[in-house]
Amino acid sequence: MSVEPLEIYLEEQDLGRGLREDVRTGLTAAPKWLPPKWFYDARGSELFEEITRLPEYYPTRAERSVLTERAGEIAELTGAKTLIELGSGSSEKTRLLLDAFTHHGGLGTFVPLDVSVSALRQSTEQIAADYPGLRVRGIVGDFTRHLDRLPAGGRRLVIFLGGTIGNLLPAERAGFLAAMRAALEPGDWLLLGTDLVKDPAVIVPAYDDAAGVTAEFNRNVLRVVNRELGADFDPEAFTHVALWDPEREWVEMRLRAERPQRVRVLDLEVAFAAGEELRTEVSAKFRPERIAAELATAGFTAEEFWTDADGLFGVTLARAD
Ligand code: SAH
Ligand code: AVI
Repeated sequence: MSVEPLEIYLEEQDLGRGLREDVRTGLTAAPKWLPPKWFYDARGSELFEEITRLPEYYPTRAERSVLTERAGEIAELTGAKTLIELGSGSSEKTRLLLDAFTHHGGLGTFVPLDVSVSALRQSTEQIAADYPGLRVRGIVGDFTRHLDRLPAGGRRLVIFLGGTIGNLLPAERAGFLAAMRAALEPGDWLLLGTDLVKDPAVIVPAYDDAAGVTAEFNRNVLRVVNRELGADFDPEAFTHVALWDPEREWVEMRLRAERPQRVRVLDLEVAFAAGEELRTEVSAKFRPERIAAELATAGFTAEEFWTDADGLFGVTLARAD
């Protein structure tokens, strides 16, 4: 087994600085918002894993079924030597690819990158133990900032699963895809998971489950801000809201202040009116033609597009031009 020490591109102090900047920007904006990357401390990462097992949360199951079906083809087509995973989390579905690459031969290195140190520590240790002969290099980093530091050379396949690209706002998404292309050489590969536009009656419950796990995940961002910045949010005073935006074709998570409140954070006193909502995440849903077009704009050619049998979730295999 070969697990290397985590490579840290994001030190505690960078995380703290980033959170302070985002809190200052987001909580003084109208309407208020926070970026979703702050959900994922150890508890947030665990809650996300719990979400993936909920009956209402179809994306993980749907993407897993595509990967189960196509992993062999992906290994064959790409012949990758290095597999890089962005926002890797537990890398649970990634094992389907690692199995296929083990069968196919040739994969030498697996590089998961995530902001969550706890998720990365667990996943790298378990994967190194289960895939002897694979070099596992975990990177603590931010995929919106650190793509220029990915390992160079070899035939690379970057995977970005789960539909996490949908958590970026459209301008961030375009910037991300351009930076991704700049980090790759012509002929390198990108495997991109995207949740697809469908009946909101299917989408909304996935973000508002009966057991209330997503509500806890949503409120977790307030706990992170309290702990890291000494803020005094009362998470229980905020209600979880999941809302479909038919124009932008995304689902939004918000936290609604049920009564007027004043929150101290940094040197700010942030006032919430009764009923005021703080946006904590967007999760964009895609149409196949838009995925291919956005990839083309960034300098990729979509070579394959697969969905699960119910057409819920799409996986695109694209090549850098
Ligand atoms: N890929 C996994 C996990 C998805 S959850 C799956 O498909 O199930 C989203 C993951 O992205 C979390 O592990 C979170 O910590 C990570 N993440 C969110 N924003 C990030 C960012 N800006 N940079 C790096 N990782 C990020
Ligand atoms: C990680 N990401 C793709 C999830 C999503 O579906 O947008 C995060 C999530 N938010 C609420 N539930 C799950």
